[in-house]
Amino acid sequence: MTLSLVSILSFSLFFLSRLSTSLSERCNANDKKALLEIQKGLGNPYDLQWDPKTDCCTDWISLSCDDKTNRVTSLSLYRIEDAGHLSLAFGDLPYLKSLSINNLRNLSGPIPPTIAKLSELTFLRISRTKISGPVPEFLSKLKKITYINLSYNYLVGTIPPSLSTLSNLEFLGLDRNKLTGPIPESLSKLAPKLTYLYLGHNQLTGVVPTSFAGWSFETIDLSRNMLEGDISFLFGKDKTTFEMLLDRNKFKFDFSKLTFGKRLWRLDLNHNKIYGSLPAVITKQPWQLFNVSYNMLCGKIPQGEFMQGIDRYSYFHNKCLCDSPLPPCKS
Ligand SMILES: *[C@@H]1O[C@H](CO)[C@@H](O)[C@H](O)[C@H]1NC(C)=O
Ligand SMILES: *[C@@H]1O[C@H](CO)[C@@H](O)[C@H](O)[C@H]1NC(C)=O
Ligand SMILES: *[C@@H]1O[C@H](CO)[C@@H](O)[C@H](O)[C@H]1NC(C)=O
Repeated sequence: MTLSLVSILSFSLFFLSRLSTSLSERCNANDKKALLEIQKGLGNPYDLQWDPKTDCCTDWISLSCDDKTNRVTSLSLYRIEDAGHLSLAFGDLPYLKSLSINNLRNLSGPIPPTIAKLSELTFLRISRTKISGPVPEFLSKLKKITYINLSYNYLVGTIPPSLSTLSNLEFLGLDRNKLTGPIPESLSKLAPKLTYLYLGHNQLTGVVPTSFAGWSFETIDLSRNMLEGDISFLFGKDKTTFEMLLDRNKFKFDFSKLTFGKRLWRLDLNHNKIYGSLPAVITKQPWQLFNVSYNMLCGKIPQGEFMQGIDRYSYFHNKCLCDSPLPPCKS
């Protein structure tokens, strides 16, 4: 008798406490369902102990909810070792503004098409994973997006020209994948808003579209591709570019005629087919990085205050560059 009374009491206490959790729970039931699907897709990782019995908004790590609507607005998954994939359920978090998936080195499979449903998304990072498949065409549906970073993955195929319809995009990072084909001409429609463009360490071919001529980047990274042609139109006095990483391609143009914007402090052109001489204007830039090694340049290296920190490895292996830090010119 006593025993059953105790058990009834403790059962009702348990039931009451469960009831009060669910009554006071902020987490939206649909969001919770989607999150649990996502957790399952990631292989129920030890580092992501989302307990279905608790409130996702207050008790779960790696996410945050809006204060008023209590809907999940940001999700940031970092360094999970387990093997898994990205669940279709990502598309069922309609209030998501920011999605960051970084350093999940055993995460494979494609980027789920349901991501296209996330119409509030402004920030998307899926980086340092084994995600493969194409750079999805459907990313062009994310009209509010300002930042896309899909670097350090195993993405294949070409860069979809439709990305050029993302009129709020400021940052595009597709570097360190296995992308092939040309840089779409249409990308220049993203100027002037898009100022960070990272396409380096892929297998891109063809020429840089001349439609890029009027465009000023903060950073442009085209390094380690198989791009070719004359890119002197990326330079100019009026440019506000800070960093140009153009090394290890097949660019071929006359360096002697270049002019530089005031803010250009980092320029890497090593391993190309650049010819001509180094003009005196290069001495006006406070270089943090200047590397023209492995080209076909010739003539005397201009000397000056800002040139003193540049070592000979930034000049070596050219046709006939001479003077400090290389050996003196033969007169
Ligand atoms: C994750 O990948 C690494 C290296 O690829 C491997 O050594 C490790 O066993 C994998 N871990 C899991 C949980 O699959
Ligand atoms: C893209 O994201 C990765 C992972 O956080 C980061 O290491 C990388 O620097 C980012 N790319 C740029 C250009 O900021
Ligand atoms: C310039 O590039 C060459 C070739 O990749 C490299 O060996 C050298 O270390 C680089 N110099 C600097 C200062 O980065």
